[in-house]
Amino acid sequence: MDRKYWETMAPKYDEEIFDVLRNDKSGIIVKAIEEMASPEKTVIDIGCAIGKWLPVLSPLFKRVIAADISAINLKIAEEKYPEYTNVEYERMDMSADDLTVTPCDTAICINAILTDSLEKRINFFQSLSLCLQKEGSLVLVVPSLESKLYTNIIANRWNVDDAHDDEDPAGKKAILQINNIKQGVTDIDNVPTKHYLKEELELLLTLEGFEVRRIEKINYGWNTEFHKPPKWLKGPYPWDWMCTAKKIK
Ligand SMILES: C[S@@+](CC[C@H](N)C(=O)[O-])C[C@H]1O[C@@H](n2cnc3c(N)ncnc32)[C@H](O)[C@@H]1O
Repeated sequence: MDRKYWETMAPKYDEEIFDVLRNDKSGIIVKAIEEMASPEKTVIDIGCAIGKWLPVLSPLFKRVIAADISAINLKIAEEKYPEYTNVEYERMDMSADDLTVTPCDTAICINAILTDSLEKRINFFQSLSLCLQKEGSLVLVVPSLESKLYTNIIANRWNVDDAHDDEDPAGKKAILQINNIKQGVTDIDNVPTKHYLKEELELLLTLEGFEVRRIEKINYGWNTEFHKPPKWLKGPYPWDWMCTAKKIK
């Protein structure tokens, strides 16, 4: 999941990439953004992609920095929302060793720290801290490893979507999968994607100088995981983790 991957994905983004805003029926993320918003404050949308959160952010903040590693994503977002005149678009690699950024009052980062590279994730979390002024607020959403495992258990126990027909990997592929799962990396649509434990998320943010306020589930329907979810399958539902935090150091 490098820059090339996201540039290639950009033109087909809407069909290929999960829409967190549309699927968060509870509105918990929007509520968390509203709680930290102010017409005096700046916000940075880290990994903004084609700008789905801009209609939420632009009316709530003085200035919005829409940041992404993909130039094509940023161009699509800019063309889509000419009415949001307080938005500035910036190409930025949060995994770079030498990121220079003007810190903002607040930040959101919704399902953007997904890379399977540990080195890139370490830099990304350090950059998160650089993007915020002291006392700045963060809303972070990441895929949940607990949810992914729970979904796999259900799929295998009740043969959902004919899970029993899936071929087990062998040889090098199997070794790679074992090494990946040890660090919480598991495939979404055949792309190795980092998933996080709740405790891991808390530790990673604390080490970067954040005080974690809340970590909550963002629940989704089973149709986001299965083509044919069993009719009896209700809650607990699959989820992402949403974390609100304050930069204290
Ligand atoms: C799954 S999309 C999420 C988009 C958006 N936040 C949303 O919720 O609709 C992940 C985005 O993160 C961006 N991204 C990935 N790695 C990045 C990096 N190192 N620096 C900046 N953006 C990055 C990708 O280009 C992509 O647009």
